[in-house]
Order: sequence, then structure tokens, then C-alpha cells
Amino acid sequence: MSDPLHTPPDMSYGDYLGLDTLLSAQRPLSPEHDEMLFIVIHQASELWLKLSLHELRGARAHVAADDLGPAFKMISRVSRIQGQLIQSWDVLGTMTPSDYQALRPHLGQSSGFQSFQYRALEFLLGAKDETMLQVHEGTPTHGELSAALTEPSLYDECVCLLARRGFAIPGDVTARDWRKPHAAHPAVEAAWLEVYRDPVRYWDLYELAEKLVDLEFRFQQWRFAHLKTVERIIGFKSGTGGSMGAAYLARALQGSFFPELYAVRTVL
Ligand code: HEM
Repeated sequence: MSDPLHTPPDMSYGDYLGLDTLLSAQRPLSPEHDEMLFIVIHQASELWLKLSLHELRGARAHVAADDLGPAFKMISRVSRIQGQLIQSWDVLGTMTPSDYQALRPHLGQSSGFQSFQYRALEFLLGAKDETMLQVHEGTPTHGELSAALTEPSLYDECVCLLARRGFAIPGDVTARDWRKPHAAHPAVEAAWLEVYRDPVRYWDLYELAEKLVDLEFRFQQWRFAHLKTVERIIGFKSGTGGSMGAAYLARALQGSFFPELYAVRTVL
């Protein structure tokens, strides 16, 4: 009888997890002791980003299908993952400016700025920016990032859900060009305001809104800790990716993925 599970009987822990590949991907380019830390922190962050994308794409599909229970579970999981990502700055902070200076020449122009998963996550949350595709031109990741730009974001799906629930959301908000960033709209703010004024009546939408705010709150905490770690390690030097460094990173702290959810807090 054939094995319906297709599991090789002699499969080991290392086989299942692809540890040969995973653990041979740490290839320091310098003799510096701290380069291993630098590589592992980045790789671990990319793995958490991969899981975050998986969970939030799942959450988006469940919101689109009016099935909020599983979406809540997935969004909550991502908030916990963000906790891990934020915590990792503490580990990286054990690297001193002198340690980093020694390995910096070996990094060339490589920079987190080129992380396509980070950009895909920003797109999935609604911060679309077509110009960010340029750096991926001609790479295998361009297609995936381009798809992430074209698809509605998780927040777009939440706004469409508000419309399906009977809130007066204009058609040009629910059927817009998804490649553009979400822009705050008074009708969306009015809908969330109604939800926040009567949580008992709209409990699931209220819970959804608070889970989104959790995501944004932690995203900003990660950005802030990145900025402060960068200031601590390279001061105000420019980045390996060619930006102004700390000044570039500080700019992202001004934005909001879900502007209406913050606006309602002022008027409530
Ligand atoms: C010594 C540690 C680090 C330094 C000095 C550093 C520095 C910088 C700088 C200066 C930038 C701006 C772009 C540039 O000009 O390069 C940047 C961007 C970025 N870094 Fe780091 N970084 C560090 C660690 C990390 C780690 C551990 C991650 C985790 C994945 C990371 C992810 C990113 C991402 C995603 C961006 C793009 C941010 C955006 O475009 O808004 N960085 N980094």
C-alpha cells in the first residue's frame, strides 16, 4: 500500500528542516569574530519576516472571506514575532562601533534596504511605494515584490470588509489602484469612529482594529530600535546602501499604515 503521507521512513530531524542548507548559509567574509553575530541576526530576522508574510497573507485571505476568527489568530502571532524581532536588537547591541567598523568594509553596498521581504511586508500593510522595486530590477525577487505591490493590502481588505458590513465607504476606496499607497479617507475614519463608539455592537471589527494597531505599534518599535541601534553603532554616518543613514531611517517613523485608526483616537 502506498504511503499517503509521502514521508521517507528514514527522514531525520536535519533532513526535515533542511539543516544542511540552513547551517551552511553563514559564510563570514572577514576574520572578525562578530561577523557571525551580524549574519545570524540578519538571517534570523529574514526567517521571521518570511513567517510574518505567510501569516499576514493568510489573515488577508480570511478577512476577504469574512472569516475573522482565524485572521485574529494569525495577526496575534505576527505581533509576537515582532516581539522577537524587537528583542534581537538587544543581542545586536552587544556589538560595539569598533567591532562593526572592522567588518563594514567587507559588506560592500549590501544593506537591509535591499530586503525584499521587509518591503513586501510594508506593501502588505499598505505602505506601497513603486520606486522601491527599482533596487530589485533583474533579480529573482522582483516578481514576488511586484505581485505584493499589485495586490490589495491587509488594510485594503479590512476597509472592503467595512463596506460589506454596511458602512458608507465610497466605491473609489474599495476599488482603487492597489499599487498606490493607502491615503487616509474621511469615510473610512467615520466608519472606524462608529465602531469605536459602540464596541459591543461591532465587537469583531473593534477587535480587528485593535489587532491592526498592535501590528503598527510594534512595527514602529522595531524601526525605532533599528534607528537607535544604528546611531549607537555608526552614529550619523551614511549607510552601506548609500542613504543618509539615521536621518533616512527616522523618516519612516513619521508614517502610519492605518492613519484612520490613529485619527479616531483624537476625535473619540
Ligand atoms: C550594525 C547593524 C546595522 C546597521 C549599522 C544598519 C544600518 C542601516 C542603514 C544606515 C540603513 C539605511 C539604508 C542604507 O543606507 O544602508 C538600513 C536600512 C535597513 N536595515 Fe539596517 N542596519 C543594521 C542592522 C539591521 C538588521 C539586523 C536588520 C534586520 C533585518 C536590518 C534591516 C534593515 C532594513 C529592512 C532596512 C530598510 C529600511 C527602510 O527602507 O525603511 N538592519 N540599515
